[in-house]
Amino acid sequence: MQSVFLVPPDSLEYVPENYCVPLDLAAVFPGRSDLPLEIDLGAGDGDFILEMVKRHPERNFLAVERLLGRLTKICRKLARIAAPNGRALRIESHYFVRYLLPPGSVTVFHIMHPDPWPKRRHHGNRLIQTEFLDVVHRALVPGGELRLTTDNEDYFKHMRAVFEPHPGFVEEPWDPGEEYPQTDFERQYRAKGQPIFRALLRRG
Ligand SMILES: C[S@@+](CC[C@H](N)C(=O)[O-])C[C@H]1O[C@@H](n2cnc3c(N)ncnc32)[C@H](O)[C@@H]1O
Repeated sequence: MQSVFLVPPDSLEYVPENYCVPLDLAAVFPGRSDLPLEIDLGAGDGDFILEMVKRHPERNFLAVERLLGRLTKICRKLARIAAPNGRALRIESHYFVRYLLPPGSVTVFHIMHPDPWPKRRHHGNRLIQTEFLDVVHRALVPGGELRLTTDNEDYFKHMRAVFEPHPGFVEEPWDPGEEYPQTDFERQYRAKGQPIFRALLRRG
């Protein structure tokens, strides 16, 4: 039976029929689900994913964002180019990776400037935790990548303390250069002259 959703049929938002079972990627990317899949977790206003969708038609991209206003902006931007390789999903990142991603389905996760939760008593809310890396590891293909960036040095130290002892990942040098699109937040931080901290982790 077809479900009734409050999104127009031509929207590039993907609304799963069932939030308790892994996604059917053939339904998300009809006719092209065998192509590499990259996921932008906490995609913000979507400029990064939009640029990646345009530059890499040979890959599929899924933007994940929990705020409705931002998700709507991403969908509008994707709709303007109407590319078959860009879709967006409104959901919480950890839940999405844990419950909705089939094992071994993702080639690259991009997590750019995740909320830093600077107060010590809020550190438990940070996305990058050991349990989260465990589920990212499971969702990645062998040799797949997790790319992390942040402007917040304290959060970056926290990330290091989490990923360095993780047995499933090896850090590799990463200098993205100009070929890697800047995100909305990265543009703002760069304009203020703030340093950006980065890590590329490869699944063993
Ligand atoms: C600081 S912004 C960075 C946005 C974008 N990645 C960039 O670099 O411009 C963090 C984004 O992640 C989203 N976000 C934060 N925690 C999230 C979570 N647990 N699940 C999904 N989205 C989340 C926020 O709504 C926000 O849009």
